[in-house]
Amino acid sequence: MEFKKEFLERLNIAKKIVFFTGAGISAESGIPTFRGKDGIWNKLKPEELANFNAFLKNPDMVWEWYQHRKKIIHESKPNAGHFAIADFQDYFDDVVVITQNIDNLHRRAGSKKIFELHGNIERNYCIDCGTFYNTPELEITEGVPKCKKCGGLIRPDVVWFGEMLPEDQYTQSEKAAQACDICFVVGTSAVVYPAAFIPLSAKQSGAYMVEINIEHTEFSYYANYSILGEAGKVLPLIVDELKKIRAIKQ
Ligand code: OAD
Ligand code: ZN
Repeated sequence: MEFKKEFLERLNIAKKIVFFTGAGISAESGIPTFRGKDGIWNKLKPEELANFNAFLKNPDMVWEWYQHRKKIIHESKPNAGHFAIADFQDYFDDVVVITQNIDNLHRRAGSKKIFELHGNIERNYCIDCGTFYNTPELEITEGVPKCKKCGGLIRPDVVWFGEMLPEDQYTQSEKAAQACDICFVVGTSAVVYPAAFIPLSAKQSGAYMVEINIEHTEFSYYANYSILGEAGKVLPLIVDELKKIRAIKQ
């Protein structure tokens, strides 16, 4: 793959890098995306699963669905795309990963600075008293577990439709986006707001925008450079270019 000269020049002089990622970066790890051909939301209704009222109405069903997703995530591994993103840390002091994913794969691949806009499937909390529980601390029960302190229902710490994003994660993401030189938008349909404001604010602040996706998206119009291809193939090739044009950090 030949990359655009302008992009390689930007890469050569950039200091701060942001990756804004979505479900597509984990597709090659075997985790289904939400939209597109085999997307989760083609088969299941978000309003019946990813929604607080749905949880109150049918907590066991919603809990079991997240257990199912957790199992898929536990059985999966970071792919070449996640590892390539982590490899950027060898060439730049400032690499921030802003993800809409809840699957921990960026962390498992070695990325250090990660903001999670939609929560994390390993964390859970009591809907009544707010006590947090990591997955191993939960008692295995049929259906939804109950809080050890107050008996309240425990929910996954993920953002459901209609809910606010974690404020600190959003604010810090926005700050990183506004300060970066290059923003990669990887494997996201970029249609879910407010998360999708993050790459737009990078663009507004003058960052060079590079989209990596298997198809064009709502975001392609804003990209300075759209690379069509699988993240797990394209990103390692960019790291190969970095090896040629930038010295490794001491
Ligand atoms: P989507 O499922 O909407 O989009 C996945 C994107 O990844 C699509 O644009 C695909 O073309 C692209 N894609 C698929 N395989 C790829 C690959 N191997 N390499 C590169 N790109 C690939 O997922 P998100 O944009 O993450 O929210 O969805 C955003 C939010 O909607 C999710 O965080 C979730 C969902 O409802 C909540 O749960 C709050
Ligand atoms: Zn409680």
